[in-house]
Amino acid sequence: MTARLVLVGAPGSGKSTVGALLAQRWGEPFADVDAVIEARTHKSVAEIFADDGEPAFRALEEATTAELLDEPGVLALGGGAVLSEATRGALHGAPVVWLKVSVAHAAGRVGLNEARPLLLGNVRGRLVKLLAERAPLYAEVATATVDTDGLPAAEVADRVAALM
Ligand code: S3P
Repeated sequence: MTARLVLVGAPGSGKSTVGALLAQRWGEPFADVDAVIEARTHKSVAEIFADDGEPAFRALEEATTAELLDEPGVLALGGGAVLSEATRGALHGAPVVWLKVSVAHAAGRVGLNEARPLLLGNVRGRLVKLLAERAPLYAEVATATVDTDGLPAAEVADRVAALM
């Protein structure tokens, strides 16, 4: 574990935007697990889900997360990364901030974006279920929490930085 900061949270919590802002501020590298997977496979996450299935994506996500946790800088995990027990174990002792977001705000941020296969069809309904299922897992791995509702990304970044 080398990462200086790991961001977790639901889709639409702002992990990628806030992570990139903080990395820029600190002059450190930034990595987003989904983006790394997409660059390496030359497929979007949605295509991986469609072509290979969710279990294949989760296996790739778990391996890529483990690898990137050993890189310096700021790392944004996928919203479902905490479903993996191995990933939760790997995060133990790491500086992990949970960007908390309500269903209303998350739905507003993700919109009807087809890049998120798990939310297709009924964004709000799926987010309700997903947040309820995942909240205990985000809480388990997080060393700190920042409420993001109604805040611009730069303000969330300030609040995360103040915790470090
Ligand atoms: C997922 C979240 C997505 C992406 C994939 C699955 C999830 O990442 O990894 O679509 O299970 O919550 P974001 O949290 O960046 O949207």
